[in-house]
Amino acid sequence: MLKAVILIGGPQKGTRFRPLSLDTPKPLFPIAGLPLIQHHIAACVKLRECREILIIGSYPAANMAQFVGDMQKEYSVVIRYLQEFTPLGTGGGLYHFRDQIRAGNPAAFFLLNGDVCADFPLKELWDFHTERTNALITIMGTEATRQQSVHYGCMVRDPSTKAVTHYVEKPASYVSALINCGVYVCALGAFNTMQAAFEKKEQDFYSGNCQSCPNPGYMSWEQDVLSPLAGTNKLYAMQITNWWSQVKTPGSAIYANRHYLELHRTHPSQHNNNILPDVYIHPTANVDDSAVVMGQNATVGEWSRVEGTPSDPDPNKPFAKMDNKSLFNADGRLNPSVTILEEKNLFLEWRSQIDNDMMIHLMNFSKMSSGAGVVVPAETILLNTIVLPHKHLTRSFKHEIIL
Ligand code: GDD
Ligand code: GTP
Repeated sequence: MLKAVILIGGPQKGTRFRPLSLDTPKPLFPIAGLPLIQHHIAACVKLRECREILIIGSYPAANMAQFVGDMQKEYSVVIRYLQEFTPLGTGGGLYHFRDQIRAGNPAAFFLLNGDVCADFPLKELWDFHTERTNALITIMGTEATRQQSVHYGCMVRDPSTKAVTHYVEKPASYVSALINCGVYVCALGAFNTMQAAFEKKEQDFYSGNCQSCPNPGYMSWEQDVLSPLAGTNKLYAMQITNWWSQVKTPGSAIYANRHYLELHRTHPSQHNNNILPDVYIHPTANVDDSAVVMGQNATVGEWSRVEGTPSDPDPNKPFAKMDNKSLFNADGRLNPSVTILEEKNLFLEWRSQIDNDMMIHLMNFSKMSSGAGVVVPAETILLNTIVLPHKHLTRSFKHEIIL
């Protein structure tokens, strides 16, 4: 029997994803019609041996209850949410709930960061792990550019055994182009390594030696567990060439949306001539032949242009990775990115080429039951602008957040 653990953080995380995560917790934000972490769950349940999925985070349980109930109905495995009393870091929550993970004595568990998207090759990862009998943890890795690699966990491997000989989390300078995807297989023995790390951290905390520990239960999976395991022949990395990316910014949500839509093309028979793939159409939706899908309660006037600026990950690059840009640059200006018309629940996207190099990204989040949505008047231009709900625009905007 196998289990899976999905780390989802809490309301303090995902700030780069705002305003999209203001109302919906980022792990539940819909990508290609499904909450972000439902894609993880769907990948886990494909493995028949995977019988339980534990979601660990510090969001209030009430925020997750509906989702967990829905998942429980949809998939015939046990799915539970375990709430940390305070953010415990990527390793602290795992260790805190170790008894729940070990219950039933699973052969191993998958560990997945909730904020990544991929076509999760979990079967291959499991096979790779079991082929290496002394493997305690196997990391899914992928190649990044030299420049981007430093924003991730970086690994050096023994070329023949694939054992990780060196692991540095977000190094200050270049270490390796092989980066950690935040997807792992872990044997239960990993908890022994964690226990040693936990006891040391706890001691440091109470003796005042740990500046970076916000509380005694806090532990970093990457720094306190993976780094010390490198070079011991217990840590391995499998390199993938499948698509994979983080989901940190609204721009990366577009990237993830496109790839998941490609992966799960749905109901092609429902595509009429006005709806171009790839789109997600809910199985219960009835689309009239004459319909043009534009979004709910949002109006874009004639001859208006809603534009963003192409940024990484560029959906047209097969192995594009996140560019970890913050919302504002050093001059205090908005970094060029997508334009967001923010409402809730419905995620639509237009993408087309204009002037050869300019991409239109329009994301429209529309709430069925809400009153008026965002209105973009005729003959205006919106460029790299974030528009919060219920705003009736009266003119063009560039590089602004409209509150
Ligand atoms: N439960 C819980 N509690 N989850 C947490 C906490 C916490 O206190 N802190 C972070 N997480 C979750 C996040 O929601 C996310 O899904 C995952 O753990 C990783 O969190 P980050 O701290 O944001 O790390 P990162 O995304 O910058 O880097 C990690 O992922 C990269 C791949 O996406 C590292 O593992 C890197 O090495 C890796 O390359
Ligand atoms: P995730 O997307 O889940 O990783 O959460 P996050 O968006 O909050 O990201 P993280 O905390 O990793 O911070 C992302 C980047 O923004 C880092 O380079 C931080 O140093 C920076 N950052 C985070 N919070 C602030 C803030 O309040 N002010 C400023 N200026 N920078 C911040």
